[in-house]
Amino acid sequence: MQQFDKIEALREQVAAWRAAGERIAFVPTMGNLHAGHFALVELARRHAQRVVTSVFVNPTQFGPNEDFSRYPRTPEADARGLVVAGCDLLFLPTVEQMYPFGAGHCVQVRVPGLTAELDGAARPGHFDGVATVVLRLFNMVEPDVAVFGRKDFQQLRVIQYMVRELSLPITILPAAIQREADGLALSSRNQYLSAEERAIAPQIHRTLLAMRSAWQQGQPLSAIEQDAVAHLDEAGFDVDYAQLRRSQDLATPQQGERDGLVALIAARLGRTRLIDNLEFDA
Ligand code: PAF
Repeated sequence: MQQFDKIEALREQVAAWRAAGERIAFVPTMGNLHAGHFALVELARRHAQRVVTSVFVNPTQFGPNEDFSRYPRTPEADARGLVVAGCDLLFLPTVEQMYPFGAGHCVQVRVPGLTAELDGAARPGHFDGVATVVLRLFNMVEPDVAVFGRKDFQQLRVIQYMVRELSLPITILPAAIQREADGLALSSRNQYLSAEERAIAPQIHRTLLAMRSAWQQGQPLSAIEQDAVAHLDEAGFDVDYAQLRRSQDLATPQQGERDGLVALIAARLGRTRLIDNLEFDA
């Protein structure tokens, strides 16, 4: 696996692959890679001859009181895991490469509508930072396909909106959520959990399952959402949201709607913010 931190070297290699008729798949990450990320790389492999993965902890998507400085950085382990997963090129841009005039002076991308609620409301500016860095990475890598995990469901929809809206010639491949045996969705943030918090954390997935069955039984939306929040509060979470939405556009569904739904939860356990979701047809 090749490793580059300069855009020019990345572009030269990608151009050579393209000249040889090879398709390029791209997996953007913030590092501290786990089985969930390696599953993204494996999906990428199935859709292209070459896989590029980026590791960049993007300052513009973290709020002032969020975990940017303590976000785990594990470059050697990431590189070892990517070799095993079959990645061809690891791109590790510096902040200076990504934001030549400084992160505070960058040209920003803002996806309207979708980004105003759920995680967008709980983390103002977060999706502007995500869209801004992903568009830059797309411009640098110029992939044919790019893989995004379904765990960050709203992020996936934001990226799909941006790609369509800006007519980017990139196919977005959504990848299934990877879970521990007890249902906890894999996340780099799980390692922040104490043993006690780790034992409580799977309640998020259980609550999502309960929201799905309550909707399938025809219970009212507001009652389902209130019950979910009450259950999570009781278990020790500080809940940002527990909501049912249409999966396509994240709009609120009409009572009785059956297809294309998603239950989404964001909640804190101590200092750790966890998100998860469950897509379903009723
Ligand atoms: O999902 C992530 O890890 C990040 O939001 C992404 C897409 C790599 C952008 O920094």
